[in-house]
Amino acid sequence: MATRKPFIAGNWKMYKTCEEAIHSAKTLVEKVKGVTHADIMIAPPYTALYAVSSVVKESNVGLGGQNLYFEKQGAFTGEISGEMLLSAGCQYVIIGHSERRQFFGDTDLTVNQKINRAIESGLIPVFCIGETESERDANETFSVLDKQVKKGLEGIFLNSSDQLIIAYEPVWAIGTGKTATIDQAQEAHHYIRSLIKTVYNEQMADQVRILYGGSVKPNNIKELMTMSDVDGALVGGASLDAESFSQIVKF
Ligand code: PGA
Repeated sequence: MATRKPFIAGNWKMYKTCEEAIHSAKTLVEKVKGVTHADIMIAPPYTALYAVSSVVKESNVGLGGQNLYFEKQGAFTGEISGEMLLSAGCQYVIIGHSERRQFFGDTDLTVNQKINRAIESGLIPVFCIGETESERDANETFSVLDKQVKKGLEGIFLNSSDQLIIAYEPVWAIGTGKTATIDQAQEAHHYIRSLIKTVYNEQMADQVRILYGGSVKPNNIKELMTMSDVDGALVGGASLDAESFSQIVKF
């Protein structure tokens, strides 16, 4: 089995002004200095990306956008392209977060177009999937993941497993304080890995990193990371505070 390097990502969502973002990023860079066991990423709001990029430059903290538009450029008021994220200093971009799917019209099709655009721009997509509470209650978790993975990755050609990161985020666990049990997380991650084998091949399935997201905190990360198919975390609320995020990084 491949050894997959843990990946800990912070999604700051619509929080922090430029000043606050710079301050948090500076504090984080200090706190995680010397950490080599995990890759680290933060995704500040667009307005703070460029400023934060100069703070994290030459540190072990990577930078990500929270979304992009699937066109290269054009008359698309309010949207941001992959090239813009790249030039602002990003290496990563979160795509298909459930809040985008729920409030801003992202569908499996647009998520697929965005993943394609991200890779073409030279960014690594952090591709989010996950079932809602009613889907889980109706025993549809696997069929939802099946559809999201297959449609989201349709026609996406990868040269290497480093070009993609997957985040399993059960919608009912996001921002609710209700974390999936470690067995629920493992079961879903294992299933997603089997889907990657179907879509690509065994090597890709073995090497691609699958993060868990949904109420990850300093006090539950260690346990989650003991599960064999959990390779890291996508952290919302607890990533806003540099101290709690650094504790998660250092699980
Ligand atoms: P949460 O958010 O950690 O606040 O639950 C996770 C996410 O939305 O990525």
